[in-house]
Amino acid sequence: MNSIIVSMAVTAGLITSGHTLAVDMPVEGKAKCGTCHAIDKSSVAPSFMEISEKYKGDKDAANKIATSITMGGSFGWEFGEMPAKGLGANDAEIQSLSKFIANLAK
Ligand code: HEC
Repeated sequence: MNSIIVSMAVTAGLITSGHTLAVDMPVEGKAKCGTCHAIDKSSVAPSFMEISEKYKGDKDAANKIATSITMGGSFGWEFGEMPAKGLGANDAEIQSLSKFIANLAK
């Protein structure tokens, strides 16, 4: 199962590698969040950049974002509901993705 997810992430990476983004989605983000989230474009969920803008200037941004990811649910974006921990991110991945998101809009 995990190897399927990894190979899907690798394939997705190959398909999108033609684009030059200023920042690229971390590997665990591609695998466990990328189905719904992109860095700079909203689709079925707000982009990570928009989320970063929401918390811009908040010293506690990374912690608040980590709590949102861990709990899942809806946060007032009106996109619907996010599954708790996305597609099975562990605590270490949630911490690093939260810092990544918090730093995008700085
Ligand atoms: C199945 C789709 C799906 C997956 C997978 C998913 N999300 Fe979400 N996420 C959403 C939706 C939908 C929302 C917006 C909910 C709303 O309308 O308020 C959201 C909102 C968020 C928010 C906003 C929280 C806030 O406080 O405003 C963050 C941060 C976030 N996601 C991070 C992640 C991360 C990191 C992952 C991977 C570990 C992930 N998401 C995986 C669907 C998803």
